[in-house]
Amino acid sequence: MEKSVEMSTKNRTGIGMSPADSQRMIDAAQAVPPSSSGDESALAALDSAYIRESEPIGSVPAPGTLKGMAQTTLQKLTGKHPEVLIDKLGERLAFERTGTRLYDYLINKCETAAESGAQVSVDTLKRFRREEAEHFKLVAKALESLGADPTTQTPGADVSAVASSGVLQILSDPRTSVDQSLEAILTAELVDHAGWEMLIRLAGEMGLDEMTADFRAALAEEDDHLRQVRHWHEQSALTHAGVSMT
Ligand SMILES: [Fe+2]
Ligand SMILES: [Fe+2]
Repeated sequence: MEKSVEMSTKNRTGIGMSPADSQRMIDAAQAVPPSSSGDESALAALDSAYIRESEPIGSVPAPGTLKGMAQTTLQKLTGKHPEVLIDKLGERLAFERTGTRLYDYLINKCETAAESGAQVSVDTLKRFRREEAEHFKLVAKALESLGADPTTQTPGADVSAVASSGVLQILSDPRTSVDQSLEAILTAELVDHAGWEMLIRLAGEMGLDEMTADFRAALAEEDDHLRQVRHWHEQSALTHAGVSMT
């Protein structure tokens, strides 16, 4: 089935489709003003009350019994706040796991639909999927080196799962095209890239040299993901628009 963007009379969402009806709708809205006075500040005040009363999203658990390596690592972090690093590692772990699933969906979509304005290589997508899975394991190892449990859902992991749930919905929707899925993957890869850059900075400032070196290797692969996905994303739009890439 052709899923590229096309012109059709089926889309009647715009107001211009029926000027007479839209004028009647505008007249009705103006004839019936809001039943209560006030503006959006009352809503903001209510929101502020909830913000002040709410508990945080979650917390980072205290490490259990520390074994040799974790003990040595945590000693290096005396006076710093390893829980911040653990939270961010938990976030990255959740994101990389979801990233693996995003590529699973995109690979299947490319193999099934094949319609795309971009010359997407399924082999390259499979490599990216493998790398996301490896990054997941790398982050799990980093968490263990800090005496943290990689199966814990940290607050950052919780928030990032909510943020990427829209991307997952787009990828798993059978109606979306390869091109629309590329747009969604680009959103994920931009955040992924920034997340690794921040982790490298954080682990580096904490003096965790081995971890920083491992993360730099992951970032080099993420560089490649972002560059390639961005290229396909542009290529698909330009091809469908009938203009060529420069
Ligand atoms: Fe990633
Ligand atoms: Fe990635």
